[in-house]
Amino acid sequence: VSFTLEGAEVTGSEGDTVAAALLAAGHMTLRNSVASGQPRGPYCMMGACFECLVEIDGIPNRQACMVEVHEGMRVMPMHGARGKSGAVDE
Ligand code: FES
Repeated sequence: VSFTLEGAEVTGSEGDTVAAALLAAGHMTLRNSVASGQPRGPYCMMGACFECLVEIDGIPNRQACMVEVHEGMRVMPMHGARGKSGAVDE
């Protein structure tokens, strides 16, 4: 399955979640902390921690560990508060 992270092609396996596919491809950071700006990435892999929020196909605040990857999916990291897809920390 081929998809993109910030426009760069990533390959995952059929049935992978977005988080699993990105981790397997070496992408550990999916967003930055609102409070500190520190890089954050998937932690619990079961929908509990919300550390894996990303924008998927233009929809922000999706949990990467709960969404199955599909061909042509467009994934973008989240910056800033959860309601501010693509915004920089203020
Ligand atoms: S990794 Fe914890 S909610 Fe996705």
